[in-house]
Amino acid sequence: MAKDPVRVLVTGAAGQIGYALVPMIARGIMLGPDQPVILHMLDIPPAGEALNGVKMELVDAAFPLLKGVVATTDVVEGCSGVNIAVMVGGFPRKEGMERKDVMTKNVSIYKSQASALENHAAPNCKVLVVANPANTNALILKEYAPSIPAKNITCLTRLDHNRALGQISERLSIQVSDVKNVIIWGNHSSTQYPDVNHATIKTPSGEKPVRELVQDDKWLTSEFIKTVQQRGAAIIKARKLSSALSAASSACDHIRDWVHGTPEGSWVSMGVYSDGSYDVPPGLIYSFPVTCRDGEWSIVQGLSIDEYSRKKLDLTAEELSEEKALAYSCLS
Ligand code: NAD
Ligand code: LMR
Repeated sequence: MAKDPVRVLVTGAAGQIGYALVPMIARGIMLGPDQPVILHMLDIPPAGEALNGVKMELVDAAFPLLKGVVATTDVVEGCSGVNIAVMVGGFPRKEGMERKDVMTKNVSIYKSQASALENHAAPNCKVLVVANPANTNALILKEYAPSIPAKNITCLTRLDHNRALGQISERLSIQVSDVKNVIIWGNHSSTQYPDVNHATIKTPSGEKPVRELVQDDKWLTSEFIKTVQQRGAAIIKARKLSSALSAASSACDHIRDWVHGTPEGSWVSMGVYSDGSYDVPPGLIYSFPVTCRDGEWSIVQGLSIDEYSRKKLDLTAEELSEEKALAYSCLS
């Protein structure tokens, strides 16, 4: 029997991530090849005409799974009945700007969209915040939508996770799908900590630690970390625009694994509400290693954290605490 369609909201749908993301959703890349979808696309009035153009293209592409398109600049209409909300709308970082610079503009959007989701989304709606500062926007959304369970509000660090996999596969000239269990800890910013201490590589003679195969601790602790931390800025420098296709694809990975589960023995990175695991202060949206099952994520417990990693985990937590204070000062 055909499944009922799932309603997926994409805010900022007329923007560049939106343009890459909506066809992926309509093709089943986010929710699977047998899951019909109804796309809700929200943007602001100045982008209304462009948004209609995207809707026309979706119709023209004749996606078999796409059962309807709501293209709107009305936040209530956009949020009504949605089962999944991918929050991309906001102002992107431009060359030379730090995430803090975009804070003032973006946190107020997330405060107002929190109430629309709280009042009009379907019960148990899953929320993924992509727009920067992603962790802090997600936190503001959570705080101003108190009836949405905290576990339903997440932010995107899967792009950073995928970037880390990509760097290791390039370094060793191996398939990216043979690398697993890297971790992105903390903020989706240059203080994030890409950690390979538990990462492994599939080889013909079984799984081997990344450290054993790379055999270059200097590269792993300097260039690798820096490249992943600074990749967003490097893309902006090269494209004069922030990453879009990789962000859209990683957003699909995030939701797909959350809904359908992570493979046995592997984890992914997601920005989730801290419960104090690994001594990360509760009350922050922080990227942890998680496994997903039955539509719920759980933080992977019991991983050893050496002294070097401890400092990195604390540093990015400190930045998030500062961002939280700054966000509240912007809203007051
Ligand atoms: P963009 O400027 O191309 O698109 C943003 C869209 O949001 C625009 O169409 C704009 O009109 C719309 N918008 C602005 N305010 C809105 C509101 N109140 N409601 C609905 N829509 C609104 O930007 P982009 O390149 O698509 O990037 C979007 C966001 O994603 C940026 O904040 C960017 O920094 C962030 N980003 C995050 C990641 C990540 O990994 N977390 C990666 C790449 C980009
Ligand atoms: C990215 O990681 O590509 C984006 O978050 C862009 C940015 O602001 O760095």
